[in-house]
This record gives sequence, structure tokens and C-alpha cells, in this order.
Amino acid sequence: MKKHWIFALFLTLLLLSSCALSRPDTIQPQSSGASDSDSDTDAAQQIPEDAAQPLYRLHAADQRIPSLAEHFDGVMKIGAAVNAWQLSENADIYQVLTKQYNAFVLENEMKPERVNPAPGVYRLDAGDTFAQFGEETGAVLRGHTLVWHSQVPAWWFEGSGEDGRATQEELLTRMEEYITTLVTHYRGKIDTWDVVNEAFSDNGSGLRGADENSLWTSIIGDLDGDGSETDYIEQAFYFARAADPEAQLILNDYNLEGDPVKLEAFYQTVKAMLEKGVPIDGVGIQGHINLGWPSVESFEAAIEKLASLKEYNPDFVVQITELDVSIFEWGDESLEKETDLILQTQFAARYADLFDMFARQAEKGNLDMVLTWGVYDGGSWLNNYPVEGRTNAPLLFDRDMKAKPAFWAIIDREVLPAVFEEWR
Ligand code: G3I
Repeated sequence: MKKHWIFALFLTLLLLSSCALSRPDTIQPQSSGASDSDSDTDAAQQIPEDAAQPLYRLHAADQRIPSLAEHFDGVMKIGAAVNAWQLSENADIYQVLTKQYNAFVLENEMKPERVNPAPGVYRLDAGDTFAQFGEETGAVLRGHTLVWHSQVPAWWFEGSGEDGRATQEELLTRMEEYITTLVTHYRGKIDTWDVVNEAFSDNGSGLRGADENSLWTSIIGDLDGDGSETDYIEQAFYFARAADPEAQLILNDYNLEGDPVKLEAFYQTVKAMLEKGVPIDGVGIQGHINLGWPSVESFEAAIEKLASLKEYNPDFVVQITELDVSIFEWGDESLEKETDLILQTQFAARYADLFDMFARQAEKGNLDMVLTWGVYDGGSWLNNYPVEGRTNAPLLFDRDMKAKPAFWAIIDREVLPAVFEEWR
């Protein structure tokens, strides 16, 4: 089946290349990327809207379009990062959310900086809206994130220590109060917590330290004297477990799928914590990748390696928590990239291969959910990072919330060549 798909894709690619060369004006796959040149306007008129409309150009909430969540029902949950204002029935994205996904995470509104801006102040409005939405829809909710070095309130790290820094005791007390307050408040409502986020160094040396903007290890240090500084992570998991014994507790990080040195440090550290009995139920691989990096094989190997930690906790699982596929390579600083059919076909093949692999891993019991970081291209953080104001297109739905070929490549790959065929 896979060979058949690759072959079909290859054929499609060939057809599209020749099509693009011979009749460049007749192809207008993405309205968002449409140019306003005269020839393009003429070309758009040559494609009867109705011919394209039934499949390829459908809005994500159209009743004729399949649902990602239903497609993977019984295999894995499919989710997306959202913002609280999108969870109202009046929001134009609401129907898309309820149709396409059965797992959600708030992109920014449950980060400590937002929730706990000053001592004793808890802003729970966005989180409460989120929890209510979860109750109404029955979706799985992820809480992101309890402990991080970024988007934490500055006051957490200030106190009566040297140079006005918080002491070990002050920081631990704040962390305990914060985790206990939040996890208790959402007990039974938020199913899964990113208890600690991005604790690992980019240089593969182990935990992130002050040189990489994290004060957690330098202030809390090695509490139990075992020679490692994972103690702040361990304490965070213990506090979360005490506040909600049923919640799934996750350690979340990036680049694990493509950086073997970071993966090894991460794996060894999690293994050591599991051996000590720290209640870690799984790990999140964020999955901020691009068209060419990393290989699917590398991604799959990372899932397999981390899932092998089931040896220490039978419930241990891997989740893909923040998937997006940038159309720009790392280091490419351009603002635009043409999303022609060839690029869209590569993008579709990339998503199809990834989701084939995720489903395979889910069926092996290694993976239980995949969330994309956002829903549609216009709402992605990648339009502002690492280059501000660029036009990226990393998700399954375009700027008009219409399904891209990648969506069909995942759900029903037979549709994709047929649709492209119509445009020859
Ligand atoms: O809301 C303010 C707005 O009032 C202000 O005018 C504007 C000016 O810059 O900033 C707005 O806040 C921005 C916020 O996103 C909401 O859009 C912040 O500057 C910006 O820094 C923040 O970026 C978020 C980033 O985390 C912060 O680290 C991204 O949206 C969010 O997608 C991103 O998510 C992270 C995950 O939490 C962890 N993994 C990586 C992932 C991507 O970086």
C-alpha cells in the first residue's frame, strides 16, 4: 500500500511538474497564496469552482469532509493547540474544532506568566473556559505547562537570596503552591499535564542551565545529594501527582525526534528518574519540524526508544504534542516561499508518512495522541518565528481553513491524485 502511494505520488509529482511548466496559469491551489496578477485572475476563471469544490477545496467544517478524530478513532487522539476565545460557539473556528479534533491544549493561556502574574493572584478565566469546553465536548485536555524557564513570572525567581534571587526554599514553595493550586482546581477536568517543559539543554549536556536562561537548577540544585540536579523536575511531578492522582503527567521537550545527542541525554535522565520512582507517565515530543528535517526514520526511532521506558512504568507513553511542518528550512530567513503544487505535494507526502508512522506506533501502544500546534496556517506561531511577519504554511488547514492536500494524504490518499488530475 505504501509503495502504491509513493508511486502515485511520484506520478502526481511528474504530472504536476509538467503541468506547472506547460500551463502555469491554470493552477491556483491556495487562495491565500493567490497572486492578483491578471493572468492568475483569468486562470482562476478557467477552473470551474464546482469541479474543485467537492473535495480539495472544502472548508474543514464542511459536512462533506471527513474528520481527523473519527478517522483515527480507536488508534489515537488527534488534537490541536487553541486559544480560549476560539472555544465559543460564535467563533468561526468552533465547528472546525469540534468536528476535526478530540484533544486540545491552550497555546499560551495556561502558562505560569499568564496564570500567576503576582503573588497570590491566579487568573483562571481562560483555563476555566477551556475546562468547560472539555466537559461539553468530551475531548481530552492537556494542561500546558506547569514548570518552564520561559513565560514564567519574574517574581518566582526573586527573593531573599543572594543578589535578590529566590532561595531554594522560596522557589520550591512557590512551585508547590502553583502546581497544587492549578492541578487541584482542574482535577478531573484537565486529563494530561505538561508538568515540566523544555528542561533539557540544546547542547546535549543534560539539563538546561543559567547559560540557557533557566534558573531552576541553579536555585534548586541537588536536593537529595545523588549528584544530579533533576530534583526540581522530580518535585514538580510529585506535587502534581499529589494534587491529581489520576492525571497523566508528562515531561515535554523539543528536537528529541532529530537530535540524537539531546535524545540520549533526555532518555538517560528520564530512565534514572523512573528508576527512582518519580511518577512520570510519559514524554511529549513537541515535533516542530520542517519539510526535510528530521527523517521519519529518525522520528520513529525516537518514539521507539522513549516508549521502551514502559519497562519502568507500564502506562508510560509518548505523545506528539506540538506538531507543525515548516515549509522553510532552518536558517532560511526569507519571508515568502511559493506554495506551488510541487511543494504542496511534498508537504502532503511528508504529513502522510508521518501519520502512517504515528498510527503504526499508536497500534504498538507506544503513542496515544498527536496534536498540531495550531489549526490553520494563518494562526501558526511560525508566521512570526524565527522570522517575524513571514508567511509560513505548516498545518493541515490553509488560511481560509480549507483542507490542504496533506489532509487528504492522511485521510484518503486515493482522493489526492484524482483531485490533482482534474487540473491537468
Ligand atoms: O499577547 C501579546 C500581545 O498583547 C502583544 O501585543 C504582543 C506583542 O509582541 O505579544 C503578545 O504575546 C505573544 C504571545 O505569543 C501571544 O501571541 C508573545 O509576545 C509571544 O512571545 C508568544 O509566543 C508564544 C511562545 O510560545 C512563547 O514562548 C507562541 O504564541 C506559542 O506558540 C509558543 O508556544 C511554544 C510552547 O509553549 C512550547 N514549545 C514551543 C512552542 C513554540 O515556541
